[in-house]
Amino acid sequence: MQPVDTTKPIIVPRPDHNLSRALVDDDALWLMRKLRKAGFKAFLVGGAVRDILLGNEPKDFDIGTDATPSQIKSLFRNCRLIGRRFRLAHVYFRRKGAQDKIIEVSTFRGDRPMEDTSGLKPEDLDLSGNAFGSPAEDAWRRDFTVNAMFYDISDFSIIDHTGGLDDLKKGVIKLIGEPDVRFTEDPVRMLRALEFAVRLDFAIDPGTEAGIKSNATGILAASQARLREEFRHMQQRGIMGPVLRWAHRLGLFSPLFSQAEVTDGVFELLDHYDRGGNDKRNSMEYVYVASLVMPTIVASCPLGPDTGLDTATEAVAGPTTALCSNYQISAHIRHKARELILGCYRLAKGRSYKAKAKFSRKAEFMNSFELLKCWNTINDGEYDEVVQFWDGYLAERDTPQQVQAKRRRPRRRRRPRPASKPTSES
Ligand code: CTP
Repeated sequence: MQPVDTTKPIIVPRPDHNLSRALVDDDALWLMRKLRKAGFKAFLVGGAVRDILLGNEPKDFDIGTDATPSQIKSLFRNCRLIGRRFRLAHVYFRRKGAQDKIIEVSTFRGDRPMEDTSGLKPEDLDLSGNAFGSPAEDAWRRDFTVNAMFYDISDFSIIDHTGGLDDLKKGVIKLIGEPDVRFTEDPVRMLRALEFAVRLDFAIDPGTEAGIKSNATGILAASQARLREEFRHMQQRGIMGPVLRWAHRLGLFSPLFSQAEVTDGVFELLDHYDRGGNDKRNSMEYVYVASLVMPTIVASCPLGPDTGLDTATEAVAGPTTALCSNYQISAHIRHKARELILGCYRLAKGRSYKAKAKFSRKAEFMNSFELLKCWNTINDGEYDEVVQFWDGYLAERDTPQQVQAKRRRPRRRRRPRPASKPTSES
């Protein structure tokens, strides 16, 4: 970590900016006021300040304070201390008929170990044993300038230590500090830079972009779990295609997905699923997995009527399993991704596929058909004939209601046999 810039921050008083209290969550305001009353500093920090200044609705409202975690805990009954990398307080707010709202309150992070931390409670040290820091230190530890601005509830001013306001005006994502140092410290920042740039429709500062290029292979040192978390955010926002295209241009794609060959097909498939509805994307990690490996699989095992399903099953398993185990993606999702692609191999058999009726009633049929149609468009109509065949098949096939009705049709009752006449012996 580099030395903290001690030059004075830019402070923009309330009349000179557009961040109005009316746009801040009421519970977050209540929290900040309570911290203030108890004698602490309380700032709105991070993404909420950035988003409100841009005229966007923030996803959540994080608060920064100089109260230590144990002080925050004693101030709020509805509070839990959590933290994998850094201790944070989660303050819970009950909501009728909905999930609890959680507001994250974090103590300003410092970087230097304090001379003597022996008098402090363990929860008032961060997990590497450092004590917490000043607002300036906290700002300089953050990732990008536009993510490091504070809104001070005491006078409603904006405090900008790192030049975020200027970059916000210019529409630029700029890493705080030296790229070689900061990307080595946390390689996930490289992916986050692309993610924010795409989300906000910003450029990436030339120095930051050059830093990503020269540190790209360093992404291999990142925690797979954190990378997967970032991919999940990108999927939920429908920005996998553009982010990974950019990642490819900067040399990040291959280290991230060594199992996936880079072809235009990959990015077009990702774009296709990015366009899906929000609810759909939430549960669609498997379609993104399939999109990443499909072109590699088809290159090694032709998608056509003559490919046996055993051969296809083997070809599909290799790259899918490799990608999923790399990111600790569950066996369930891996299975769904494999079935999705394998379904395309079944469909590619067209008329000659024996289990047409059974397969066409399964849930994965339509998903595989969607993937096949998209793959067909990407490949300039190479599979037009087979797509038309299945469209025709679906049009002629009984609707699920018709199938149900047939099942429900009452069986003809047999007429009871006439009782046999008693024999003379009986
Ligand atoms: N942050 C950081 N470095 C990280 C992660 C987060 O410096 N690796 C800081 C940034 O100041 C960021 C804030 O913590 O703005 C919150 O992080 P996150 O929730 O990931 O992003 P937001 O900016 O809040 O964006 P959003 O929640 O809208 O995705």
